[in-house]
Amino acid sequence: MCGIVGYIGKQRDIKVGLAALKRLEYRGYDSAGLAVFDSAKNQVLCVKTIGRIEALENEIANSGLQLNGSPALFHTRWATHGGVTQANAHPHHDCKGNIWLVHNGIIENYKELKEMLEGEGHKFLSETDTEVAAHLIEKFFNGNLEEAVRKAIKLIKGAYALAVISRDDPQKLIAARLSSPLIVGISEHDGYIVASDSAAVALYAKQIVQLEDNEIAVMNSHDFYILKEKQPEDLEMTAQDIQKGNYPHYMLKEIMEQPEALENSLKGRLIVNEGLAKLGGLQNVADQLLKIKRLRIVACGTAFHAAMIGKYMLEEYAGIPTEVDIASEFRYRKPILEENSAFLCVSQSGETADTLAALREAKRRGILTLGIVNAVGSSIVRETDAGIYNHIGPEIGVAATKSFLSQLSVLALLTIYLGRQRNLSVIKGQRIAGDLQVLPNLVGEILQKSDEIKALAEKYSKYNNFIFLGRKYNYPIALEGALKLKEIAYYIHAEGYPGGEMKHGPLALTDENLPFLFIVPSDSVYEKMLSNIEEVKARGGKTIAIATEGDEKIRELVDDVVYIPKTSEMLTPILSAVPLQLFAYHMGVLRGCDVDKPRNLAKSVTVE
Ligand code: AGP
Repeated sequence: MCGIVGYIGKQRDIKVGLAALKRLEYRGYDSAGLAVFDSAKNQVLCVKTIGRIEALENEIANSGLQLNGSPALFHTRWATHGGVTQANAHPHHDCKGNIWLVHNGIIENYKELKEMLEGEGHKFLSETDTEVAAHLIEKFFNGNLEEAVRKAIKLIKGAYALAVISRDDPQKLIAARLSSPLIVGISEHDGYIVASDSAAVALYAKQIVQLEDNEIAVMNSHDFYILKEKQPEDLEMTAQDIQKGNYPHYMLKEIMEQPEALENSLKGRLIVNEGLAKLGGLQNVADQLLKIKRLRIVACGTAFHAAMIGKYMLEEYAGIPTEVDIASEFRYRKPILEENSAFLCVSQSGETADTLAALREAKRRGILTLGIVNAVGSSIVRETDAGIYNHIGPEIGVAATKSFLSQLSVLALLTIYLGRQRNLSVIKGQRIAGDLQVLPNLVGEILQKSDEIKALAEKYSKYNNFIFLGRKYNYPIALEGALKLKEIAYYIHAEGYPGGEMKHGPLALTDENLPFLFIVPSDSVYEKMLSNIEEVKARGGKTIAIATEGDEKIRELVDDVVYIPKTSEMLTPILSAVPLQLFAYHMGVLRGCDVDKPRNLAKSVTVE
């Protein structure tokens, strides 16, 4: 999964494109490159290198090239086909150095196309699938770039977001998409920028057009058109939304933004005195939702952990049988989808390939499809029948943090909404709504403990294995805490387990080198968790607890405890997740990890 940027306009300075590209570095950072049309020399100049954008900037400085011109292409790569080498870095070009392009996605039939083109005499310089697209466009090029792109993409199978320029048709920037996100940014002043997501265009554009699948945008420095009409929409986020501010990392900024994120997710949606949730995005399917007998929630990673908690909420308080599936499993097994059921995707980016593929399978079966998504106008948003936005602004850190808490709060809203359509009483609705309303403040109280949690991370920073245990609503939090730790503080291995499974295996691991982290709020399974703690202590294991304020008993029992405020059992996950996010963050920083861009990962997995 990569980040692409294309620019055309009166600006001749490549800083515009590089600044936009830096907003996309979370999508992949194995290598980076740019290509600029130099009208004086009538040629396209290119610099590319392995490493991050910083390495590219150094390469540019050392190249001695005057790289100012328009149009221009920029790229940051997450390797799919072909190793991390300079030759495989984007941009790629055709045989004559006329056609240049950058690409995000996978050309699934690139081998056949490459054989065909080599048979026609084309010479390739890289191992990538992307280079095939450049030679394919060359094959059809007769002076009109968009016409050549249009013909070439008809032969491509797979996923692509392409930005293309040509030395021999230099007044154009062409963009085309299929299943990979691509946005056209319209500047108030002087031109156009295309990029993989809104965060990259927000520095330059005030209006955007979301490209749909099979659409081609044709831009020059003063005009653009799309081979299919689209209405521009105002960009919700602004440039400062995507700055780090005074924080050292996006991840810490986004953890600290969680009270505000929760407020934005709940804003205008809680009618506490009536025990109701107002979800305007479901208005057009309200009658259908009244009739559903079963709900299936499908997601990946952290969003899947939110889905698991949503299941517990919806079954206990809305009385709706709810199944949850990891998207990559759902799409390949033979699921039974009942007619009177609904299919809900949970996805921060709205572009996760497996979740999108699962959605398309549900649509193919004629099932009502819903989404809980953060990214405005993303693919899942456009392909579901209805949905609920998180409204938390861009989440740049690769680790999902504020989006997770927001997803849980929206699932609680959905529980009230569907529950009140059924048998959830006004009183119970009022209680859940009232407890939700104060959550932002309670999260804020926990954030005050960041230094305390940093000290805990320092105490345990030498351990390389952790087990997280939780039960019922906090079993998925055990999974989430383990995921956060292993994805941020590499190379720690951490596993999450339901407390009741200890005796079915993990207890064998217990010794003084393996810290156990227990999520043990004062809830209906508290006593059961105490037994787990005793079992671990009896075998010399280190014990850390996330417990409810006022619980002195736990303090006597464990080696370390972090307290969270009291709330209803159903909502404790929204609080218990916060210390675990901070624990992973501080552990990662202590270990010298790049907590915003952990190795081998990407923010949005838009390829299988
Ligand atoms: C979690 O910290 C990871 N970033 C990853 O598991 C993520 O939650 C997953 O890829 C799903 O992404 P989505 O919410 O954008 O679909």
